[in-house]
Parts: sequence; structure tokens; C-alpha cells
Amino acid sequence: MSELSVNHLLGIKDLSRSDIELIFNTADQFKDVINRPIKKVPSLRDITIVNLFFENSTRTRLSFELAEKRLSADTLNFSASSSSVKKGETLIDTVNNILSMKVDMVVMRHPNPGAAEFLSRNVDSTIINAGDGAHEHPTQALLDAYSIREKHKNLEGKKVVIVGDILHSRVALSNIFCLQKLGAEVQVCGPTTLIPKYIKGLGVAVSHSLEESLAWCDVANMLRVQHERQELQYFPSIREYSQQYGITMNHLERLDKEITIMHPGPINRGVEISSEVADSDYSIILNQVENGVAIRMAVLYLLASKNKMNFKD
Ligand code: CP
Repeated sequence: MSELSVNHLLGIKDLSRSDIELIFNTADQFKDVINRPIKKVPSLRDITIVNLFFENSTRTRLSFELAEKRLSADTLNFSASSSSVKKGETLIDTVNNILSMKVDMVVMRHPNPGAAEFLSRNVDSTIINAGDGAHEHPTQALLDAYSIREKHKNLEGKKVVIVGDILHSRVALSNIFCLQKLGAEVQVCGPTTLIPKYIKGLGVAVSHSLEESLAWCDVANMLRVQHERQELQYFPSIREYSQQYGITMNHLERLDKEITIMHPGPINRGVEISSEVADSDYSIILNQVENGVAIRMAVLYLLASKNKMNFKD
């Protein structure tokens, strides 16, 4: 297979296993490129991409911008806080105005679930979802699975536990879809209040014991508690959450095997993960960030190819 089955990247749910493998194989080539002294290729020359961020971001935003620059695309960055959205302009009007400046692709992060899909149905452009509320974060799941593949050779049969605030996490949902499509077994672990009731219907096992989950898994993906999406208090206190679900070196040293620790960032040191674990050899957190650039280069390149943007000459 040499082309994606989709015209946009809205969620992992829409991708086939072959799509994901194509993205990984393309990312392998771009990872070589970004580790060379000259890190740039002309693949997306004369293509213009807008990064439309209606929510805060460090990793995703910079990683997309860098991926675009490494592919020689022209990039525009849009922040909702300093735009005319504040004056009442709709999302469709905002994007259509940007597109009329001859922009070819839109990368969007938005607080509302379904915003990227809504945009794909209402404007004439290629849309990449950089996180939509608590729904999906497809490039995060791709870079997470790619990082596991890099460390463990393949995903087939690997046991991955996602720990923490599953209820408010777009990373969890996209990871579940991606890992299952690649043949991994997925478990979620956290307090009952932070595990959605529909999760078992996705074929995911549920645990409330961090110790038992760590004994079961090959990989633990630790999630941040998303206070910004919580209107209620879902557990008694941060201290109690940390005592029950925060990973420390004691947990890892008690195991009779070595497991891999991941985190999508931003990390809250001393809450879901201790500093010692985050900075240890168990952790591949910074490898995930590095791989994010290659994965996003692959996604941008493959979507531009699918939509015949980079065959102008
Ligand atoms: N992992 C992730 O989405 O991080 P940012 O919110 O910093 O983009």
C-alpha cells in the first residue's frame, strides 16, 4: 500500500492497520532525515499549512511546526486568544478566510469533541486533528505506538496499560484504537470515577490497582489528571491520587521484569509520575517527543500526496 485510505486525519478510528503501518514506514525514512546534518527535504515546497490552536499546547504545536519546516512547507500559526474569534467570528468563517489566502492544509486543536470532523465536512481543505476535547489525539497515539515499536520491535501481543484520567483523555481513546489495530492488549487503570463506563465495550480490561497493572504489562503509559476538563472533584485529594496511582521507583524495583514507562506530557512530577521515574532509563518520554516530529512529517506528506498537492510540477 502506498497511499492512505483517508483524505483527512480526524481520528485513529478511521485508519486501517495498513494506514498505520504506512505512516510508520514513512516516519522511519523521515527519522533518518531529521538525524542528518541537513534536516530538511523539499517534499512540501510551495504548500502552505496553518496551525490553528484554540487550546494550549507545547509539544504538538511545536512538533507540527517543525515537521512542516523540515518538509519545506510554508507555515502560519494561529492563536485563538489573539484572533477575531474573540469578536464572535464562527469557526467556519475563520477557516474560510484563512483558506482564501491560498492555504492548503489545516492542523487544528480545539476544545470541542468532533470539531475537526465538523470542519472537514464544512470547508474545502485537508484537516488534521491535533486534539479535539476529550475525543481523539491521533498523532499522539501514532507517535506513542511508533515509540513502543521502536523499543519492543513490534506491537503484536504486547501488554499496554494506560493509567490515570481515562475519562477526560483524548490520548487514551486514540491509544486504545491504535494499539488494538496493531495487535496489542490494552488495559486501563485508575479510580472508578475516572474510568468511563463504555470502556469495557471497546475490549479493554479495567484495573483499579496500579501494582497489579504494572505486574501485568510490558508498557505503562501514565496520563496527567486533566483538571481543566473537570467540573467536579473526582478523587479526595491530589496526595491521595498520587499515593494510589502515581508511579515511583519503588514500584519498578519490586517487579521481576523491566517495563517501559511512557507519558504524553505535560508531566506533573510527583503526581502521576515521580521525577526519578520520569528521568530514568525506564522512561522513553523524550523519545516520544523526538518521534513526534517524524510521525507528523509522515502524516503531512502522506495526506499531501493523497490529495495530490505535492505533484504540481
Ligand atoms: N502531548 C500533548 O498533546 O502535549 P501538548 O498539549 O503540549 O501539545
